[in-house]
Amino acid sequence: MPRDTLSITDNRTGKTYEVPITHDTIRATDLRQIKVNPADFGMVSYDPAFNNTASCISRVTYIDGDAGILRYRGYPIEELAEKSTYLETAYLLLHGELPTEAQLKDWTYHVTHHTFIHESIKKFLDGFHYDAHPMGMLISTIAALSTFYDDAKDIFNAESRKKQTFRLIGKMPTLAAFTYRHNLGMPFVYPDNDLSYPGNFLNMLFKTSESKYRPNPVLERALDVLFILHADHEQNCSANTIRGVGSSHVDPYSATAAAIAALYGPLHGGANEEVVHMLNEIGSVAKVPDFIKRVKAGETRLMGFGHRVYKNYDPRARIIKKIAYDVFDLMGKSPLLEIALECERIALEDDYFVKRKLYPNVDFYTGLIYQSMGFPMTMFPVLFAIPRTSGWIAQWEEMLLDSEQKIARPRQIYLGHDTRSYIPMEART
Ligand code: CMC
Repeated sequence: MPRDTLSITDNRTGKTYEVPITHDTIRATDLRQIKVNPADFGMVSYDPAFNNTASCISRVTYIDGDAGILRYRGYPIEELAEKSTYLETAYLLLHGELPTEAQLKDWTYHVTHHTFIHESIKKFLDGFHYDAHPMGMLISTIAALSTFYDDAKDIFNAESRKKQTFRLIGKMPTLAAFTYRHNLGMPFVYPDNDLSYPGNFLNMLFKTSESKYRPNPVLERALDVLFILHADHEQNCSANTIRGVGSSHVDPYSATAAAIAALYGPLHGGANEEVVHMLNEIGSVAKVPDFIKRVKAGETRLMGFGHRVYKNYDPRARIIKKIAYDVFDLMGKSPLLEIALECERIALEDDYFVKRKLYPNVDFYTGLIYQSMGFPMTMFPVLFAIPRTSGWIAQWEEMLLDSEQKIARPRQIYLGHDTRSYIPMEART
């Protein structure tokens, strides 16, 4: 008679243990009963980088990496990219359901009316070098918001969480645009509440002397779709960071700053910047085969390829490739496009990549789109951080309200020295 349990025999002792299986998963703490001596700590599981460990139960985002499926709250990413807007998708991620017309209006109103930042934040920005990386400025200014909103510490108060959510989603584009203007040495442009979320972002980035900025609808929609595609991606490095840092019950601004820092790394949100560096380094279509040879020799990586979870074409990359052509039609083709297409063509046929199931990921084409839109490379990860904020807050809130979650505190396998006595300086060799 089949049972939902796993029998484990410890060959050191000959004892057999039966542990329950729920959702195809065993609980690591059920292994603790496995001991040789009663005084032993008990068996633990070793899983560096969480390759096969679920750290939470989540209802936000579903990925089937083998099938190339991504869904937010059950809705396929392809449908959301085609029919939704970023603000509606953010509502969905945070509330679990699509909003009614009235709910969307109210949500949009509140996010839009939290786009302004305290004037003192501008003084922090002024303190940065003219060429400071915008991600460094974004991490710092988001962290600084915690000093302005003391009520944010009240994390178990639903009203307070709601307020911080409006502020975080509302202010993120403003801070992002201000970092860009700081780099250019141009005056900051204040939010225009008549415009859409991406339209207002474009306004704060690119407005010069015109009395009213009118965003180009193609760019506005392209940015909105890119925001939808980047809104969440279940337990990735930065989501895991906001959950881990948030598990200490710190305020959401400090936890979000930590998540942005995680995103900054070249293996995560920094990869889109690395892709453009790489394509520039390759230099021409003719040099792609040589570069691929170097990748296969382990000298370098093909940035924008591979994914911990997707072992198939990243569904976001497919949508992004299409947006790329909409933007190129308007703004002109990136000179790096042909090199990127050749890398993709060779890699998709080459045994090295096929065997390892390395496909283009979300970052492979985004850099080219952003470049064509006029963004400097340093802004690329910032463009990832803006929409990911809704996913981070959804993950953070789910963690806070989960009665099984506690402060994140992994175990280690200690292989260092056993106890030894302090050696006086004169006795050291
Ligand atoms: N180019 C060449 N070889 C690769 C690549 C790549 N981009 N990615 C993985 N491999 C190889 C790797 O060398 C290893 O080969 P072997 O088995 O012979 O040692 C095998 O594929 C498995 O790689 P891994 O490093 O164990 O895989 P991982 O799941 O730890 O890493 C990854 C995932 C995304 C960090 C990695 O694929 C990578 O470094 N890609 C390039 C950076 C990138 O594009 N990052 C953006 C990720 S998507 C956006 C996001 O979610 O942040």
